[in-house]
Amino acid sequence: MLWQIALAILVCYVLWKVLKTEENELNRVPGPPKWPIIGSALSFLGLSQSEMFDKLLELRLKYGNRFVIKVLNRYILHVYNVEDIETVLTHSRNIKKNKPYMFIEPWLGTGLLISTGAKWNKRRKILTPTFHFDILQCFMEVFEEQSRNLVKELKKQVSEGSDVVDVSPLISDFTLYTICETAMGVRLDSDKTEAKLKYKDAVLEIGKLVMERLVTIWLHNDFIFSLHPLGKKFAKCLENVHSFADSVIKERSMSYESRGEDFNEKANSRRRALLDLLLEARIRNEIDLEGIREEVNTFMFEGHDTTATALTFGLMLLADHPDVQESIFDECKAILGDSDRSPSGSELNEMKYLDAVIKEMLRLYPSVPFIGREIVEDFMLGDTKVAKGNEVIVHIFYMQQREDLYPEPKAFKPERFLNGEKRHPFSYVPFSAGPRNCIGQRFAKMEMKSVISEIIRNFKLEPTQKGARPTLIADLVLRTTEPIYVKFVKR
Ligand code: HEM
Repeated sequence: MLWQIALAILVCYVLWKVLKTEENELNRVPGPPKWPIIGSALSFLGLSQSEMFDKLLELRLKYGNRFVIKVLNRYILHVYNVEDIETVLTHSRNIKKNKPYMFIEPWLGTGLLISTGAKWNKRRKILTPTFHFDILQCFMEVFEEQSRNLVKELKKQVSEGSDVVDVSPLISDFTLYTICETAMGVRLDSDKTEAKLKYKDAVLEIGKLVMERLVTIWLHNDFIFSLHPLGKKFAKCLENVHSFADSVIKERSMSYESRGEDFNEKANSRRRALLDLLLEARIRNEIDLEGIREEVNTFMFEGHDTTATALTFGLMLLADHPDVQESIFDECKAILGDSDRSPSGSELNEMKYLDAVIKEMLRLYPSVPFIGREIVEDFMLGDTKVAKGNEVIVHIFYMQQREDLYPEPKAFKPERFLNGEKRHPFSYVPFSAGPRNCIGQRFAKMEMKSVISEIIRNFKLEPTQKGARPTLIADLVLRTTEPIYVKFVKR
């Protein structure tokens, strides 16, 4: 008898849920068929990561700049309109991240990327000073040194006859070294090599596993996922990334304690990394050790993978455009003359053409192709009410390639950002915008300028196959199914 009552309650609950969601205004927005209970899941079943990327473009072409996908009882609104993107990104209370971010929570915890409300606000306040202009100037030394080391490594490879280079692993070493030394105050010396490799492999694997989980709806449940082979693989990856981050915290804490009172001296400002701010905040009881761990994991991921992706695609684009390389080279020469020293922070700021090149790289290949929000407060998009509980996805990648916003959208033309062309401010958002914009954007731009100028002053880049473009895949950041090769010819 009891189980019959339980079953009746369950059936009533499911029916209530189904009927209730039918009232949702987003039901009127076009999109793939929404079946009861499973929603639009059938349209995505079994898609690979690259097919998933294509599918999103296909849906946009079919249904326009706003469409809705229903997964179970969740309505997910996809937007490609600049006006909609502005409304979503500038909303001061709808800053909560959507469901897929929860899949990376076991890794990043509720660090700055994922947290919301008061916790996010407090952490953002603690961490913002690290990205102040003056502190960034202190990081220049690290950018310069690591850029020179990268060029040295490339020269070595070229002189050994390996002039065609798979750029991604080399570049992601560079960005990982840079973030560890600047933000964590820890140099990745040679005895960390194995841990470093394990860390990078695990980051790649986590991205794949999260995307696989996303398109396999029965794995959305944490318990089922933990029993599934994918969940077990995920747990193994977590061990690797966490133990690497823990070793970074341990090393820095030890040197922090040994420096004691001297710590705040100006001479130490270069070493006053993000991790130090966190260790100081811990003394003031503003954050505990678990909180520090969350932020270290967050920044090590956000601070290296995004920039590495941007640089990898960027070098591919430059290899195809010798004219752009020459203009960068001329700009460096005009500022630095015949000297082979590295540019200072203010000299990098003078490089306006290189600025435009980086903007155009990030227009074509924004490292974070889309971002998501879970709505916590009803709001209007034009005459459509987006109610609490729904999700919104902002499509940065496809919006930045809309022909009506950028004529010849696939062409790599840095001039777009030089000649004062008027465009909607939200038609270019590779670093997102509004309260949850990228905290590291100035850091990323300086780092990119430093390394690109160093590479172009030393090499001419050539494509292995002119005009070839890799297949893109939907992942935590933009990735490709195959490696990107570039030929380096010494100047
Ligand atoms: C080219 C390089 C980069 C790009 C394209 C990029 C892009 C973005 C985007 C689009 C977001 C918003 C994500 C979302 O709403 O889900 C974001 C957030 C964030 N980024 Fe970046 N990023 C880059 C480099 C960096 C660097 C170098 C750091 C750290 C040193 C960093 C740290 C963060 C953090 C912590 C957040 C979360 C901020 C918050 O929610 O308050 N990023 N980034």
